[in-house]
Amino acid sequence: MRRKLAAGNWKMNGSSAALAELSALAAPADCTVVICPPAPLLFRAAEIGAENSLHIGAQDCHHENGGAFTGDVSAPMIADAGASYVIVGHSERREACNERNRDVRAKAKATWAAGLTAILCIGESLEDREADNTLDIIAGQLSGSVPNGATADNLVVAYEPIWAIGTGKVPTLDQIKEVHDFIRAELTERFGATVANDISLLYGGSVKPGNAAEIFQAENVDGALVGGASLKADDFNPIIAALAAS
Ligand code: 13P
Repeated sequence: MRRKLAAGNWKMNGSSAALAELSALAAPADCTVVICPPAPLLFRAAEIGAENSLHIGAQDCHHENGGAFTGDVSAPMIADAGASYVIVGHSERREACNERNRDVRAKAKATWAAGLTAILCIGESLEDREADNTLDIIAGQLSGSVPNGATADNLVVAYEPIWAIGTGKVPTLDQIKEVHDFIRAELTERFGATVANDISLLYGGSVKPGNAAEIFQAENVDGALVGGASLKADDFNPIIAALAAS
């Protein structure tokens, strides 16, 4: 069964005081709710999450399990902190940290080896969209970033058009449907229908309480990866409720 999944990416926001928001989140029985706080908050967030049916994720990991990599955090460390998900390949890291598809693939493999689920992000730039290259970019990111051996337990794919992140601009429902249908078809070709049909596909980019219900109408949208509107329970709860009602 494909999971309905609402994931919150806090990015580099939040402090220990912000963890109070976790206790105010309502996770319905048929929805998986994942919060991805900054790394220093993972351990405490996992303790609070366990009391509140929430899953916790990290925002990145190194591809090695340990060693001389100053400042980095490994997948086994994230698992040890009590988290169960890791975002890999977010466009902010692909752009600012020059992460390539092969780096994202190595990170996804590291999450799997640690028993974690990768929330693997893909998405086109405005330039790609305007040049009508979106589906080519998506195909290349999927084939380059997703390792062999994907299952519905170890992989969630998040489609986040770069131009929609933090901008208030959202693609039309037809544009979202086109890309999500394409992602499902690409995964089906590579992993077979049984596996591909069960992998949750998230939309991300300016998801708000006011537009979530419409976005969740698309058949191959199984949830959302939410940035700004995941920071406050008052904003994230209505998005979760819209997903539960979809
Ligand atoms: P916003 O919801 O703030 O646009 O961020 C989306 C995002 O990048 C989630 O990973």
